[in-house]
Amino acid sequence: MLALSNISAHYGALTALSDISVSVEDGSKVAIFGHNGAGKTTLLRCIVGAHGPSTGTVTWNGEPINAGSVAETVRRGIAFVPQGHNVFPNLSVEQNLHISGLLFDLSFLSEIYKLFPVLEERKSQRAGSMSGGEQQMLALGMALMTQPKWLLLDEPSTGLAPVIVRNVMERLRQVNERLGTGLIIVEQNVPATLKIVDRALIVKSGRLIEDIPAADLREKPDLWEFF
Ligand SMILES: Nc1ncnc2c1ncn2[C@@H]1O[C@H](COP(=O)(O)OP(=O)(O)OP(=O)(O)O)[C@@H](O)[C@H]1O
Ligand SMILES: [Mg+2]
Repeated sequence: MLALSNISAHYGALTALSDISVSVEDGSKVAIFGHNGAGKTTLLRCIVGAHGPSTGTVTWNGEPINAGSVAETVRRGIAFVPQGHNVFPNLSVEQNLHISGLLFDLSFLSEIYKLFPVLEERKSQRAGSMSGGEQQMLALGMALMTQPKWLLLDEPSTGLAPVIVRNVMERLRQVNERLGTGLIIVEQNVPATLKIVDRALIVKSGRLIEDIPAADLREKPDLWEFF
């Protein structure tokens, strides 16, 4: 279980998160929604140890995740795909996957190719010449080469056409189903995300204002003003 307990986070004098407490079971699929500047990215950064909360603790199965420990967090099994296309553009698709898996088991490449056949078809292509959707698949594949128990994604659908967004979401659903990887997805595309998650957290001005099953959120249009 990933547990956040009374997290507050600041950037200088600015309060980005206030007193957030929430727990998520390993293997679950959770969305984080909220307006621009609500604190969604900061929340993900606290979970991976990229930003130190000013108060509160983040633990995974009882063990703390400390600020400045991103590399260790990834080794322990929590992978983070930040916003944007996080690939090495001048390397081939396969070289990108190799680099990401170097400290892990490179034979896992065959699993990645099963999940994302397009990456095998394009394995020799320069990553920077792939389309936006293909690069997003590659970024997912790279994160999965670390065989994470948790995959944290910051706006994976940004800049993608609706049909590609559906494809990315469907792949994420398969990753969860086949590998048991838990998903925490920050998204502006609420309808597409609600199709695959079980639960939604809504953040407003740094506060967690709602923690609701995804099925219920679909029936509550009054909450939709918050994202
Ligand atoms: N490095 C930083 N330095 C100063 N302020 C920051 C920094 N990063 C974020 N902030 C501020 O913290 C607040 C929360 O930002 P955050 O990026 O977490 O929001 P967000 O919900 O991810 O927004 P968006 O939907 O636009 O990505 C915002 O007011 C933002 O301006
Ligand atoms: Mg953000």
